[in-house]
Amino acid sequence: MTRLARVVLLFAGICLVFAICAAVAVAGEDKPKRTPDVVYVPTPHDVVERMLEIAKVTKDDVVYDLGCGDGRIVCIAAKKYGCKAKGFDIDPRRVAEARENVKKYGVEDLVTIEEKDIFTLDLSEATVVTLYLLPSLNVKLIPQLEKLKPGSRIVSHDFDMRGVTPDKVEKYTSKEDNISHYIYFWTTPLKKEKSEKNSEQ
Ligand SMILES: C[S@@+](CC[C@H](N)C(=O)[O-])C[C@H]1O[C@@H](n2cnc3c(N)ncnc32)[C@H](O)[C@@H]1O
Repeated sequence: MTRLARVVLLFAGICLVFAICAAVAVAGEDKPKRTPDVVYVPTPHDVVERMLEIAKVTKDDVVYDLGCGDGRIVCIAAKKYGCKAKGFDIDPRRVAEARENVKKYGVEDLVTIEEKDIFTLDLSEATVVTLYLLPSLNVKLIPQLEKLKPGSRIVSHDFDMRGVTPDKVEKYTSKEDNISHYIYFWTTPLKKEKSEKNSEQ
């Protein structure tokens, strides 16, 4: 092999290593920093609309969706009621989809989407919080939800919050999937149920 051929081969090898490193880095950017606590399943649009009606959202509200997925809840809230809204998701793929939807709905001036772990959030700015997580995750959020201003509203698709009495539970059959969905509604301050231990005393 000539000296020139060796130099060309060496250069090609270095380029290949760089290309592989860049591809790995780009692929890594798409991954959540840790495993999400629940997989992505979107709330049907008509269930979103009903959740926002039950929460009596107005233009003066600030709606937070914890685990916002493709951002549909915050987009619909801003589009329909003209309120500010923030969506948070731990998965960068969902954050990218949600930001696309913010543009599609034309609500860039009202909605922000952040890549964040919901268990690190300060919720004091929110007046309405929407959830579609899991019962255990709703319970884990109680210390943060207790810091909401009095009169704030919380709506959860399908899952309750053990230990906290809802103001309302509604069964709603979606025209999108023909399935019955439950919508749980709480207002703050939260009405904590007495634990068995306390009620025995
Ligand atoms: C069932 S989906 C609900 C999506 C959306 N809220 C809706 O109702 O259409 C739950 C979302 O929570 C996100 N998630 C899971 N654990 C999270 C965490 N610790 N912090 C932020 N987002 C999380 C998932 O990536 C997923 O997009």
